[in-house]
Amino acid sequence: MAEHVCPVWAGHFLANRLRKLLQNPCRILAPYVRPGQTILDVGSAMGDFSLPMAEMVGPEGKVVCVDVQSGMLKVLRRRATGAGLAERIETHLSTADSIGLRGRDGTFDFALAFTMLHEVGNQANFLREIHQLLKPGAHLLLTEPIQHVSRPEFDRTVSTAQQAGFSVTNHPPIRLSQSVLLTKPAERHP
Ligand SMILES: C[S@@+](CC[C@H](N)C(=O)[O-])C[C@H]1O[C@@H](n2cnc3c(N)ncnc32)[C@H](O)[C@@H]1O
Repeated sequence: MAEHVCPVWAGHFLANRLRKLLQNPCRILAPYVRPGQTILDVGSAMGDFSLPMAEMVGPEGKVVCVDVQSGMLKVLRRRATGAGLAERIETHLSTADSIGLRGRDGTFDFALAFTMLHEVGNQANFLREIHQLLKPGAHLLLTEPIQHVSRPEFDRTVSTAQQAGFSVTNHPPIRLSQSVLLTKPAERHP
């Protein structure tokens, strides 16, 4: 695990009203998340984005929440049950260097990596795995916090994503963040 992984106690502080005002999950995700989709939320922590996405995908959809800390996923499951969304949420414990969702390649409609990639030691491997897990034509929304990740560091992450096979679609404005919308190119048919 990277040295600077967000501790479980700090996860409770992420879920505050001010953050919801500044980084409203529904407003940020509305352009990408649709009913019936299967979504990947990497570094989900306690589900501040996973739970709104579970609402957005509806009863036919699914949100797979991946985190390296079981304590985060435990709280997420409790919150999902409390919100009546447990059926739409699947949790998966990753290792520090690998998401490890074997057998799920090409099955996700959208992926979110919100303010988490700077905590991952092997970003290249992580981004390659997300690329494999997405369907052709699907998007990854990647954001990093401006207080922890410099512009040059973020640019290096975007280059790493491009080397993993993603193309840059745009840079949606998200408060307190640097962000990029990445796309797995659609397959070409001759
Ligand atoms: C700052 S929190 C952000 C959580 C959430 N995305 C949000 O914005 O509310 C980062 C999360 O990423 C998780 N994380 C760090 N390294 C990871 C890895 N290699 N694989 C999966 N999750 C990881 C941490 O455990 C933590 O829950």
